[in-house]
Amino acid sequence: MIVYFSGTGNSRFAAKMIASHIGDKVVDAGTFIKQNRRAELRSERPWVFAAPTYAWQLPRIFADFIRRGSFDGSRTAYFVMTCGSEIGNAATKIKELCWEKGFAYHGVLPVVMPENYIAMFRVPGPDEAFGIIEKAMPLLQRGIECIRQGRAFPDVKAGFADRLRSAINPLFYSMFVKTKKFHAIDTCTGCGKCVRDCPMNNISISDRKPRWGSACTHCMACICGCPEEAIEYGKRSRGKPRYQCREYEE
Ligand SMILES: Cc1cc2nc3c(=O)[nH]c(=O)nc-3n(C[C@H](O)[C@H](O)[C@H](O)COP(=O)(O)O)c2cc1C
Repeated sequence: MIVYFSGTGNSRFAAKMIASHIGDKVVDAGTFIKQNRRAELRSERPWVFAAPTYAWQLPRIFADFIRRGSFDGSRTAYFVMTCGSEIGNAATKIKELCWEKGFAYHGVLPVVMPENYIAMFRVPGPDEAFGIIEKAMPLLQRGIECIRQGRAFPDVKAGFADRLRSAINPLFYSMFVKTKKFHAIDTCTGCGKCVRDCPMNNISISDRKPRWGSACTHCMACICGCPEEAIEYGKRSRGKPRYQCREYEE
């Protein structure tokens, strides 16, 4: 079973592509997280967990979802981390998580996909994004072959700089993952799509405008999914293209 978390669609794309090639089921962790529901899942086929990279680790919300949930049946676990450039030393914490859950770790596959962190970085426009996704396909295909054949993903080497990056992950959450800078501009119609898209259930509408609570994980679903491009993050998001991976979108 392929279980994924995704803010802007890259990891959903990877998850659905794997599922369609190996003929397995795909489950969106976001629906459980939104309803504060614990997963109780069973699969006799390998578990494949797919998610974005947040500050060189699995998103905290997804690691907690796995930690809290029950995943019965197969003990084999693969991890696919989509990223804008690199996953650092994410494998170490993933191995610990596998140990806690009684999973046999079968590796982590870092898949470079378009950057979505519009609140911090430059994000690609549609043509550039398409090129990045095309470039990612052969690696995803090789990952799919590994899963099909029951082989572990190739080892990801992590040097000193990677270990350092992943080690500052808790600092990233305490310093940067805040909601104060999210705001809707005049073109906001109050349609509520951001409320529906938020996997944390952290947005409500009042006076026909979205308001953010404190339970944000900076997934960028609200800002990138707004049909009017009417959400900004301070000044940092101004004038940037909104990124969403549209393939496999329902
Ligand atoms: C909060 C946040 C932190 C991120 N940190 C990293 C990172 O450490 N390394 C990296 O290469 N990409 C990073 N990215 C980029 C995403 O991991 C990447 O674009 C991913 O494919 C998005 O997946 P999604 O569309 O499934 O949400 C970050 C994005 C966000 C929103």
